[in-house]
Amino acid sequence: MASPIIDRCTEAEWPALLAALDATFVTDRGRTGSLASRFPNAMGETAFSNTVVLRQGEEISSCCVMREFDWITPDAQWRGAMIGMVYTKAAARGRGYAAQVLSHALTPLHAKGVDFAVLWSGLDHYYENLGWTRHDRGLLGTLNLAPSPALSHHPLPAVDRLSHLQRENQPQRVPRNAVDWTVTPLPASTTGIFWAEADDDAYALVGLNGETRYVYEVVGKPTSFPMLWHQISAGARQVYVNDVVGSAWHRWLIANTAMQFKDQALAHWRLLSPRAHQARWRGWHIPWFDRI
Ligand SMILES: CC(C)(COP(=O)(O)OP(=O)(O)OC[C@H]1O[C@@H](n2cnc3c(N)ncnc32)[C@H](O)[C@@H]1OP(=O)(O)O)[C@@H](O)C(=O)NCCC(=O)NCCS
Repeated sequence: MASPIIDRCTEAEWPALLAALDATFVTDRGRTGSLASRFPNAMGETAFSNTVVLRQGEEISSCCVMREFDWITPDAQWRGAMIGMVYTKAAARGRGYAAQVLSHALTPLHAKGVDFAVLWSGLDHYYENLGWTRHDRGLLGTLNLAPSPALSHHPLPAVDRLSHLQRENQPQRVPRNAVDWTVTPLPASTTGIFWAEADDDAYALVGLNGETRYVYEVVGKPTSFPMLWHQISAGARQVYVNDVVGSAWHRWLIANTAMQFKDQALAHWRLLSPRAHQARWRGWHIPWFDRI
């Protein structure tokens, strides 16, 4: 067997690798929609250039995809890199290939001055054994409902307005460009917006799939939350909420609905720059909607 080489994915290799990733992360898990259309910002046409592969001869045995992003906190701006689609083809597992790919992915990030890397995984101890620190401030809320008639959501055209509200209301955030707003996280079939315009502008960013809703974020004044909840829950049999400990939206849901919350334990961090090591990074939470 040819010895393994770690490299960037080429444009020619990308379609076959994308098909393998779609099979692993989408269809084998009973979901639909290619990763390329779900995550056009991370898995679109130029994704090959951000993909580290382990190649043996002409075959790719293992890979991971990176997406660099800005991270804003009240006191500073940071450069982060999220890592996703960590994959080794079934016949090549258990040989340390994914570990090698991950380690090579970090080297250029260090060299470029990227402050930290982050990934989300439910695998037990795998990433911790490779030197990542598991630390998550996220919450997942679940509520089952008897559905009432659905209200219509809006598609995502008003990007300036959304970005303005995000800037005004989220002291910690990933700034989003027009493409970033079009992501459809798994397993939703579409992403939509509900607006509350009674007192002040506020929005709910929600994934929809039949009678299931996935709330990614609710941004704006708490006086708008009842109106937004009315729209989110209309037509829903199940509502899932992605949130962070201590948010106004979390507090409102606890006080006004029967939603049950549990702690998430998915985020794994790798601090790269000296200033990131000094930072209060344990207070950071990258929103669900921004992840790959
Ligand atoms: C997880 C995955 C990338 C590991 O790739 P790999 O090249 O076999 O990984 P390595 O050889 O570096 O490490 C193998 C280790 O991973 C562990 N591992 C594999 N799958 C695991 C799982 N589901 N849960 C916990 N550990 C797991 C193995 O036990 C092994 O540990 P050991 O070395 O102590 O025996 C591969 O199994 C895969 O592609 N799985 C399907 C896609 C997936 O789940 N990706 C991860 C998304 S976060």
